[in-house]
Amino acid sequence: MSGPLTVLVANTKGGCGKTTIATNLAGAFAAAGLTTALADGDRQGSALGWLKRRPEGAAPITGLDWGKEDGRAPRKVARLVVDAPAAMRIKRAEALIKLADVIVLPVLPSPYDEAATARFLKRIEDLKPIRKSRTAVAVVGNRLRPRTRASTRLDAFLDDIGHTVVTRLRDSTLYAETAAKGMSLFDLSTRRAAATRQDWSPLLHAVEAVV
Ligand SMILES: Nc1ncnc2c1ncn2[C@@H]1O[C@H](COP(=O)(O)OP(=O)(O)O)[C@@H](O)[C@H]1O
Ligand SMILES: [Mg+2]
Repeated sequence: MSGPLTVLVANTKGGCGKTTIATNLAGAFAAAGLTTALADGDRQGSALGWLKRRPEGAAPITGLDWGKEDGRAPRKVARLVVDAPAAMRIKRAEALIKLADVIVLPVLPSPYDEAATARFLKRIEDLKPIRKSRTAVAVVGNRLRPRTRASTRLDAFLDDIGHTVVTRLRDSTLYAETAAKGMSLFDLSTRRAAATRQDWSPLLHAVEAVV
């Protein structure tokens, strides 16, 4: 493989957890000692804002501003995470997907998010890297609260879409709490964080399986 292992976090639905997942993935790679870059493809700059808040001494992550156009990763980067904007033209989606080894697609338990996700999957299915399985699609159920009707419905949706559902992330206030400090769950040593981090193992394994 030439260049870094690249994970694109994308879905045309806003608020589904793209930035949360992108920053936590970057945090996980950095905590594992891998040279990591986080590219912010969204002009809102949330991922770069998160990096600005990152405390000194936290595992280093290089920020890349891809708000206006996509760049390339610096040499020697082992993992590149790209936080995609909600709205992108199919050309841009295609260019980003071409770069990616894995595309992570977060979906919230809501009928609107499910519909938007189904549409997005339909749009990208015909793109060459996906058609030829060069880019893996990993769907992630996000903000699940067990035993709620919304979660049960999302489960049914996920079972139904014909794509691999890699993991389900629980709804946790830890995400907002860490985001406010430029941190990820992987920067914390509390037991609560360790329990919540378990949700991430299948996703991290799936990404590493690509190497
Ligand atoms: N698993 C989760 N549990 C609790 N809150 C979450 C979770 N994932 C995302 N959030 C919150 O949802 C909001 C939107 O997430 P964000 O990552 O900004 O979405 P996007 O980048 O797709 O617009 C944020 O306030 C974030 O803290
Ligand atoms: Mg975002």
